[in-house]
Amino acid sequence: MGNSGTSLSSPVPRHIAIIMDGNGRWAARRGLSPSAGHKAGVERIRDLLSACRSRGVEVLTLFAFSSENWQRPPKEVELLMTLFHSYLRKEARRMRDEGVRLRVVGRRDRFSPRLQRAIVEAEEITRGCTQGDLVIAADYGGRWDIAQAAKQLAEEVVNGQRSLDSIDEDAVESHIQLADLPSVDLLIRSSGEQRISNFILWQAAYSELFFTDTLWPDFDESALDEAIKAFQQRDRRFGGRAEGDGTAVQA
Ligand code: IPE
Ligand code: IPE
Ligand code: MG
Repeated sequence: MGNSGTSLSSPVPRHIAIIMDGNGRWAARRGLSPSAGHKAGVERIRDLLSACRSRGVEVLTLFAFSSENWQRPPKEVELLMTLFHSYLRKEARRMRDEGVRLRVVGRRDRFSPRLQRAIVEAEEITRGCTQGDLVIAADYGGRWDIAQAAKQLAEEVVNGQRSLDSIDEDAVESHIQLADLPSVDLLIRSSGEQRISNFILWQAAYSELFFTDTLWPDFDESALDEAIKAFQQRDRRFGGRAEGDGTAVQA
């Protein structure tokens, strides 16, 4: 991975993940329904993706729908599914033209067959792209992710493909979603909430966290730059000690 904890330069995060929160409050402040907020929120994604690309960010992962969001009122869930479907139908070709590969992570079996098809098609359209990655986490939960990795490992043991002793952190990591991508450098949550809400748990072990009060439909390029700037001021040590930070002398 590019960023060493001791670097004095200002690296751009290779992988940014965002919990896109605050659509409901954005709408409520305008006397509108949550649906209006979700529609405005989706509109943010296109610009944000190109802003990330122009700043050299290689991967953008967006939390679009959590495994707990099924608890929302049925009408809201339906609207979110419709928006997701039309986003995939509308944006996949544009992404291909810009060289961005799309991936959807999460359970798929609870989506309608029509939405599942749209996901497969959108991924297929952008499959060969190499200029960047957009990952959409939908019906995703960090606990689900770890559990599905454990299940795959257990299956491999049962099938005789691996020994029990071979199960270590690297083995789990290899079955966790996003394992093939650069690790998440910067995790942003909009709307002022300061929690993970069952988003990437394993992958965020050493992510820098950035919380902003900005509501998701207001999250623009300047909000992105604010987060990147904060990231660049962090001292990432990964549990080590930076050379020449003065304390090593007394060690
Ligand atoms: C985030 O916005 C979008 C989803 C969870 C799908 P919210 O709908 O959670 O917005 P708030 O938190 O109610 O403002
Ligand atoms: C997290 O936001 C999920 C997404 C942004 C997709 P929520 O609004 O669902 O999270 P809580 O309920 O505030 O923890
Ligand atoms: Mg919310």
